[in-house]
Amino acid sequence: MVKVDVKGCCSFVDEAQYQAYVEKALAAFDVLEAETGEGNDFLGWKHLPTEIPNSLVNDVEAVRNNWAAKGVDLVIAIGIGGSYLGAKCVIEALSHNFAKQLRRKDAAEVVFAGNNLSEEYLAELMDLAAERNVACIVISKSGTTTEPAVAFRVVKQFLESRYGKVEASERIVAITDAVKGALKTLSVQEGYKTFIVPDNVGGRFSVLTPVGLLPISVAGFDIRQLIAGAAAAEKELAVRSEDNPAVVYAAMRNLLFSELGKKVEILVNYNPKLTYVAEWWKQLYGESEGKNGTGIFPASVNNTADLHSMGQFIQEGSRVMFETVLHVENAQRSVVIESDEQNLDQLNYLSGRHVEHCNHMAELGTRIAHIDGGVPQIEICMDKVDAFNLGMLLYLFEFACGISAYTLGVNPFNQPGVEAYKKNMFALLEKPGYEEATKAIKQRL
Ligand code: PA5
Repeated sequence: MVKVDVKGCCSFVDEAQYQAYVEKALAAFDVLEAETGEGNDFLGWKHLPTEIPNSLVNDVEAVRNNWAAKGVDLVIAIGIGGSYLGAKCVIEALSHNFAKQLRRKDAAEVVFAGNNLSEEYLAELMDLAAERNVACIVISKSGTTTEPAVAFRVVKQFLESRYGKVEASERIVAITDAVKGALKTLSVQEGYKTFIVPDNVGGRFSVLTPVGLLPISVAGFDIRQLIAGAAAAEKELAVRSEDNPAVVYAAMRNLLFSELGKKVEILVNYNPKLTYVAEWWKQLYGESEGKNGTGIFPASVNNTADLHSMGQFIQEGSRVMFETVLHVENAQRSVVIESDEQNLDQLNYLSGRHVEHCNHMAELGTRIAHIDGGVPQIEICMDKVDAFNLGMLLYLFEFACGISAYTLGVNPFNQPGVEAYKKNMFALLEKPGYEEATKAIKQRL
């Protein structure tokens, strides 16, 4: 199992304080397990790993095989927020760092759209599409989100003019609500294959539904291992115990926030492949906890690169943060530092050492330095970055998020604040129905 180690917080908190927060976290665990808390109609993610039907996994893999048979080498996955970040984080974590440059052909390349409104981005995406054999996955639970809708209109028109309407409809899969939303209506009309986002699973908890599984599978990764890892975590984390890793993580982060004023949590990695795990985690915790004027601000750094940019601030700046370090025990590739006769770089003392040994010593040295500098350290340890371990990690973060938000006293499963920018944007775009809001906002410009 992925482990949570809070020894790096010991010098900041005393045992009685910690026990008090473990009790709070266990009470929140009970609410999550009894399904009696706020937002309890959005708990479908809890048993996804152990309850995903094999037929659904087969169906997802059939799309991958069907597109592979057509020679599809570029899949545009359209979605934003929870309809984007889960797939992006798993694909980045499991991909060769230089897959694009190596031009590996063992699976389609998955690129993302609909996660911004940049005209340049879309135009340049179409430059890429023009040179490739293309299919598209369009994902929107509500089926009405503007960013993916705009991107899909462009990509749909491209596919229809390139392949004709009938073939285009074979190259488009929609993932949306079972009955409602514009994307559902369009899919029925155009005859797209569709997958359903279950009603009781919110966007940021949807990585183990087709929202995440389809893009991950078409990118060539083993979704069965991802699900198996999450299922192992689901079973282990269901045990009520003060040693439950989700309870430990939720208890310590709430203690640091509420008693020590640590308002920022930095998720730290020492492997560039984990950059988007942090982006996914930021959405999960940011949208789940940041409401009612409270919540820990989730941030992230990629070390050792960021030790040479953010390191100064973390060591000596405002003492508002704690760190949660993603520790990966084993590298899956090997590079050994060789001896050099001249030793001009004075690195011979490392001869015979693996580069990952240096990475681990940088991590340990940073951990000690940051503790000395007043930054408590939580460590999350995983064996290696593979599909099984990622499945465990993602589920741990989801389950701990539910416990942590309930400990904090907020509903983890809504995001009312996201509507504010949408209303202003629609007013400024003069969307029909927003006439009064348009007048009002224009007076403020
Ligand atoms: O977590 C969430 O619910 C949000 O981030 C949504 O995923 C995001 O707003 C996209 O919504 P939709 O899938 O309805 O287009």
